[in-house]
Amino acid sequence: MTIHIGAKPGEIAETVLMPGDPYRAKWAAETFLKDAVLINEVRGMLGFTGTWNGHRVSIQGSGMGMPSLSIYANELIKDYDAQTLIRIGSCGGMQDKVSIRDVILAATSSTLSTPSIGIFKELNYAPCADWGLLHAAFHAAEARGVTTHVGGIYSADVFYDERPDLNEQMTRHGILAVEMEAAELYNLAARHGRRALAVLTVSDHLITGEALPAEDREKSFGDMVEIALEAAFA
Ligand code: ADE
Repeated sequence: MTIHIGAKPGEIAETVLMPGDPYRAKWAAETFLKDAVLINEVRGMLGFTGTWNGHRVSIQGSGMGMPSLSIYANELIKDYDAQTLIRIGSCGGMQDKVSIRDVILAATSSTLSTPSIGIFKELNYAPCADWGLLHAAFHAAEARGVTTHVGGIYSADVFYDERPDLNEQMTRHGILAVEMEAAELYNLAARHGRRALAVLTVSDHLITGEALPAEDREKSFGDMVEIALEAAFA
């Protein structure tokens, strides 16, 4: 057990999917895993372990934002020896070519700051995905016929951003979408020699103002979970 995760040693799999929302962790575990058992409920940040196609998998909520994700990813890596960590979550589209429901595979993530800033100081480190996971996820998404974009995203610290000029610069520089966790996940995976990827569904759009209708959410998020699982065990 750690400060934030109540699972006993061995109760967490080497492969961990990390949605921000703990209730999405519950839904994904109940929908896609066999014999899923609850392994964490500290602070309501639900985590489950089960199997997918015979492979052991855990699905652990990360909470919103990099400080929260950093706590869970650090403990999963250092205390439970997680080897493959895949964020599954939503993002806001930042390019005209990106539409609601599309899948974004984050090759890199730009940030203003992460919980790792103290290590990097003046260095603009470029957090990037594991190539093997990225490659496998792209093929899994293509095989499902899901419109998929691979490229840079932006991990923001502020959801209600009062600095539209910054978003404009991101769009101008080809950033596909904004979310709030991937950059720190990539930093931690690189530091500890683990594999990481963010598989994201576009749930809203910063340019068009469109949002994913509630009734479509399950199907879109389901595609994302299956792409992540297929990539993890490719
Ligand atoms: N996650 C989903 N949509 C988002 C947005 N517009 N900004 C930040 N994170 C998001």
